[in-house]
Amino acid sequence: MTPRIRARSFDLRIPAFVVAVLVCLVTVQCSGGGSSSGGGSTPSIPGPTSPTPTPTNPSGPETFVGAGDIAICSGNAEATARQLDSIGGTVFTLGDNAYPNGSQQDFRDCYDPTWGRHKARTRPAPGNHDYGTPGAAPYYQYFGANAGGAGLGYYSFDLGAWHIISLNSNVPDAGASQLSWLRADLAQSTAKCTLAYWHHPIFSSGPNASNAGETAIRSYAQQMFRILYDAGADLVLVGHEHLYERFAPQNPDGGLDTARGIRQIIVGTGGVPLYEFQSVKPNSEVRLRSHGVMRLTLSSDRYQWDFLPVSGAGDSGTQACH
Ligand SMILES: [Fe+2]
Repeated sequence: MTPRIRARSFDLRIPAFVVAVLVCLVTVQCSGGGSSSGGGSTPSIPGPTSPTPTPTNPSGPETFVGAGDIAICSGNAEATARQLDSIGGTVFTLGDNAYPNGSQQDFRDCYDPTWGRHKARTRPAPGNHDYGTPGAAPYYQYFGANAGGAGLGYYSFDLGAWHIISLNSNVPDAGASQLSWLRADLAQSTAKCTLAYWHHPIFSSGPNASNAGETAIRSYAQQMFRILYDAGADLVLVGHEHLYERFAPQNPDGGLDTARGIRQIIVGTGGVPLYEFQSVKPNSEVRLRSHGVMRLTLSSDRYQWDFLPVSGAGDSGTQACH
């Protein structure tokens, strides 16, 4: 609609002090824009174009929210997607995005109508179900540049004061290049706080902890964890177990380490049917069986976690960065 401009006669003589104020305002505007610090996304190697995450508050804490094990057409993905509808910030996924096989049809029919409405602000990680289709091709096609370089499944970005790394735990046989990249990526980061996320847990009280078929994957994930630990990283998020489980800060061998340890939290609660807990592992602090999303509030020197269940009890706390 074209706004109507009402013609009115007025005096064109503008007082000098008004001109001065206008000039001042214009000057401040220009210099302010040019010097604004980059609180948003900084692409890292290997250098795929990194879309800018949606900051909730560029000058304050960032919200990072998500879960793994998400969209089976008959599951609860819509319930967790509705939680995202009212939470700002950047969305993460912890793999197994579209069931059962990460096919084009699975993404189109199950993921897209639910979590897909947050796709533009989603930074995903791939899971074994996404690799149910060779090369996880539909996963890379669906998420595009938001998933990093096509076929790699690993990338990093900065979110406020935090360095965030999404990794691929599905390729233990071809993972040497990812480990090299991870070391280099961490070496060039100057962030005080670092978070990494991928699909398969190292520590778990769920049924997959005793899955002999995943020994190589766990061992590979442990290598990633060790590299992160040596670099002083703070937090690791994983999925795969359809459960919520929070561990105390640990070293790569599972020993309690309150000084330098990394806290691993399983958030495989995005919508697929839940598992039962098996034997409780050392340093497991909280275990919940509920669908829901993890909302992280990332400040300059600490993080707050809030697991928000669709129903039932949640889990919250804060931890300072190393
Ligand atoms: Fe999985």
